Amino acid sequence: MNISIINGPNLNLLGVREPDIYGFSNFEDYLKTLKDKFPKINFDYFQSNIEGEIIDRLHHVGFQSDGIILNAAAYTHTSVGIGDAVKAIKTKVIEVHISNTFSREDFRHNSFITPHAKGLITGFGLDSYYLAVNSFVLD
Ligand code: DQA
Repeated sequence: MNISIINGPNLNLLGVREPDIYGFSNFEDYLKTLKDKFPKINFDYFQSNIEGEIIDRLHHVGFQSDGIILNAAAYTHTSVGIGDAVKAIKTKVIEVHISNTFSREDFRHNSFITPHAKGLITGFGLDSYYLAVNSFVLD
């Protein structure tokens, strides 16, 4: 099984950025533990701070991967283009967030991705990604 993980803006600063909200681990270290937990899964990982690059990546993996885990970060709440890309591709997308976006500011309660996603996992720290992988495995 091939699973693509796509992270949006500022998630390259995980471990440094607001650790009270996002924790102390960077994503590269977390990805290693994820790979150890699922040795049979091939993971590819992409992070960008640029909206169009995230859309291009969705187009690239969206017809070949078995599942996509997408944390579009702030673009979740603003990007019609990323929402349209999730709708346009074949591969199912699980939207994840590290923090519980619904317990935060009102502007984080809207997502342009959720209506087109297979599901939403929010608020479990980095283990939101672990839960998303499990959901593809159980499918
Ligand atoms: C986030 C939540 C977003 O509201 C925020 O803009 C992020 C990270 C999360 O994983 O909790 O950058 O997607």
